[in-house]
Amino acid sequence: MEILPTTPAHYSGIATLYNSLDPQLHISASDFTEGDRLRDPKFKTQRWIAIEKDEIVGAAYYTQSNWFAHPQKFMIWVGVHPSHQRSGIGSALYETIMHGLQPFDPLALRTRATEACPQSICFLEKRGFQEVIRDIPSELNVQAFDLTRFTGLEDRFQGNGIEIKTLHELENDPERNRKLYDLDWEISLSVPGDLAAGMGRRGFEKYVEYAITGSSALPDGFFVAVKGEEFIGLSHVLVSEKGISLYQGLTGVKPQYRRYGIGLAMKIRGIAYAQTNGYNLIMAENDAKNIPMLAMNERLGFVRKPSLITFEKQCQPSQN
Ligand SMILES: CC(C)(COP(=O)(O)OP(=O)(O)OC[C@H]1O[C@@H](n2cnc3c(N)ncnc32)[C@H](O)[C@@H]1OP(=O)(O)O)[C@@H](O)C(=O)NCCC(=O)NCCS
Repeated sequence: MEILPTTPAHYSGIATLYNSLDPQLHISASDFTEGDRLRDPKFKTQRWIAIEKDEIVGAAYYTQSNWFAHPQKFMIWVGVHPSHQRSGIGSALYETIMHGLQPFDPLALRTRATEACPQSICFLEKRGFQEVIRDIPSELNVQAFDLTRFTGLEDRFQGNGIEIKTLHELENDPERNRKLYDLDWEISLSVPGDLAAGMGRRGFEKYVEYAITGSSALPDGFFVAVKGEEFIGLSHVLVSEKGISLYQGLTGVKPQYRRYGIGLAMKIRGIAYAQTNGYNLIMAENDAKNIPMLAMNERLGFVRKPSLITFEKQCQPSQN
């Protein structure tokens, strides 16, 4: 077994490895190329592969992003093909990452593992990683969803001058994108857990590309609760796999307008959009601390999947 730095020529083999670890991923070489293109050059990144008899049997990386941002903080990942696990490849890849990080004097490392994979959790705990965040993924079967269960929902707040509009319907508001950018951040700050703190505030252009103009954005699947000129809530779905699955973007309502059914009504609009456009699934992911949204998703019939756990390792000796 040999460990080598990755080049783009390995991307197709790495994609095969990823898909063998999670058959639902459907990742391809071009996803890695696109990841390279989109990555901010200020972030340090390095990938390696473990190769045995010309087959990629493992892969690993360290990288950085706005999430958990600090010049000495890193995200890492190690994966070994199911038929080559328990033969020391993961340990060797992990040691390679740690060696590669030495020149940067890392403060802390993060990685994610699913609770469905106890061996991954054991691997991390043995190396000094501890759970810091738990996210609950869930999925809604869109075509089986009975919209008639929720008719008349919007009547509850329409009398107070509150309406739900799509991005297209708000096209004539020259401040639309700026108002959405500000509302998204205000709501992000109130999401239970560390969404906003972990991510930091992205720039205006980056937000517009992500939510409004980018290839995953859906202006007719983006719903805004408005009261006069004021935007008081938003909820949007984005493309995960074209024609097949969507993922739920941020849903939120300004604190003074909560518990009037506005959040639920916007999510129902998203589900109706998905149904009309032939999508099968909406995928969501919520912090385990987010009791309101988990309760709403349960009421809607989202089915929970095994939790995704973020682990963190402190690399410097404690000051105390
Ligand atoms: C989650 C959120 C969007 C709910 O919006 P809302 O307009 O207040 O919710 P609704 O009035 O439509 O509530 C619909 C259902 O959700 C559930 N729910 C909403 N708030 C809840 C709370 N505080 N506790 C428990 N359940 C709650 C209930 O099932 C509720 O139905 P009910 O009122 O008949 O009991 C809102 O609390 C919010 O903006 N939170 C901050 C942003 C966030 O965390 N977003 C999720 C991350 S993507």
